[in-house]
Amino acid sequence: MNKKIKKILSKKNKSKIICLTAYSKNIASILDRYCDLILVGDSLGSVLYNYKSTKEVTLKTMINHSKSVRLGVKKSLMVVDMPYNTYRNSHEALKNAKLVIKKTKCDAIKLEGGKKIISIVKSLVKNKIPVMGHLGILPQTDKKFTFKGKKQSERNRIIKDAKLLEAAGIFSIVLECVETKLSKKITEMINIPTIGIGSSVNCDGQVLVIDDLLGLGKTKLKFVKKYLDLNKIIEGAIKRYRSDVLNKQFPKAKHSF
Ligand code: KIV
Repeated sequence: MNKKIKKILSKKNKSKIICLTAYSKNIASILDRYCDLILVGDSLGSVLYNYKSTKEVTLKTMINHSKSVRLGVKKSLMVVDMPYNTYRNSHEALKNAKLVIKKTKCDAIKLEGGKKIISIVKSLVKNKIPVMGHLGILPQTDKKFTFKGKKQSERNRIIKDAKLLEAAGIFSIVLECVETKLSKKITEMINIPTIGIGSSVNCDGQVLVIDDLLGLGKTKLKFVKKYLDLNKIIEGAIKRYRSDVLNKQFPKAKHSF
């Protein structure tokens, strides 16, 4: 087993697992110093491309951003999201997962879903492809983005899916917007780490979309904590640059040849 995956597994019940998304090299190289896991999430579709849904994200886009992220990631586990319609059956999933790993040198891939994708997950794991799962809100296929676990039937289904995914051989699972008590139950029930986003403190680790944490963009999601108002900081710098250029304060002789 990949040493970085072993390290993630060893943190279960010991210390929290720190995860963030990254879409390019410079940010990834900062995150790499503080994260256990860096995810090239297909959230890049909405964050960078203004797509209405992650359904529009292509394999080529994921590969290109992941190649950039790879240049910044040295020590963390790098996971790449398989986009919508790239793992509809075992054959397609294996072909595309192999391509992603070959082109990006990532350590693992992530797939959304439970029971429906179990045979696909099993086949990937059998072919030595490390797989991370994703339950709760499934942005690739869900119509409504409301938290999961309100109804008992939904709770039972997510619990069952988590057990099935663990048995199929995934090494970890993202729980997206899963109700507090349900995320606790799942985290206690399975032996692999759960990584929460909008799923309370009960998960083994936490992930956020980096642009949300930094205050780039205009997200107002309940589960996001904005640690910085980078929009404001960038705007300030650009205003000073504009003023310097207009007033011939930049470039100066020291910037010239
Ligand atoms: O696409 C993504 O960034 C994700 C995280 C929100 C977990 O899947």
